[in-house]
Amino acid sequence: MKKLVAGNWKMNKTNGESYLLSREIIAGLTEKEFLKCDVVLCPPFTSLASVHSVIKESEVRLGAQNMHYKEDGAFTGEISGRMLVASGCDYVILGHSERRQFFYETDHLINLKIKKAISDKLIPIICVGETLEQRESGVYEKVVDEQVTLCLKEITKDDIEKILIAYEPVWAIGTGKTATPEQANSMHKKIREALANLFGEEISSKIRILYGGSVNDKNAKELFSQSDIYGGLIGGASLKPESFINIIKNT
Ligand code: 13P
Repeated sequence: MKKLVAGNWKMNKTNGESYLLSREIIAGLTEKEFLKCDVVLCPPFTSLASVHSVIKESEVRLGAQNMHYKEDGAFTGEISGRMLVASGCDYVILGHSERRQFFYETDHLINLKIKKAISDKLIPIICVGETLEQRESGVYEKVVDEQVTLCLKEITKDDIEKILIAYEPVWAIGTGKTATPEQANSMHKKIREALANLFGEEISSKIRILYGGSVNDKNAKELFSQSDIYGGLIGGASLKPESFINIIKNT
């Protein structure tokens, strides 16, 4: 399976800054990289149009960081899937731990968003991962299994192949503390088992599971060489063109 690297810019970069950053990223990538790796940029909503204007003739794809689960209506401050598609998005990150932690998103809400994203023809990048407390108390495998099961409730076998999962241990996000390649790979295997329980082995084997949490150009190669890590969801390092390009080159 081809790997995928996505840059989650989070709440960083104005419209103009995003334009410049995406131009620098594009300039550093060649056909060679795209043969082995899909590349997705997920800027803030306000930068979707400017980033799209830069990448639209390239192999780089556009993603958003969130969406609402309704078609349209009185939901002040929200953005719909249709709006994202019209802005050039192919992907949307859903259930990021920062959305869970700071905006109280539950697995049930994330499940509604995933279903809507699929029906809008967006590819959801679904984030799961345990907190430090959950890891230390030994319940982390159960926690992640439950997140996968609840988030994917009522998703059909036909639709499931269109999704991506990102395993992002909360204790590794923005902390500089990466999961070891073995820790990450073993959780990816657990997630694949959870997917196999829900959808069968064959379908589960086709789903790309990304790792996220303090990935940089130094640790990417080892992480991506693990048997069940099919790329990464990159935060901080995706804001530095050189680092992000090197991460892609290391897939
Ligand atoms: P960092 O790469 O900054 O740790 O962030 C990871 C992340 O949350 C990507 O979604």
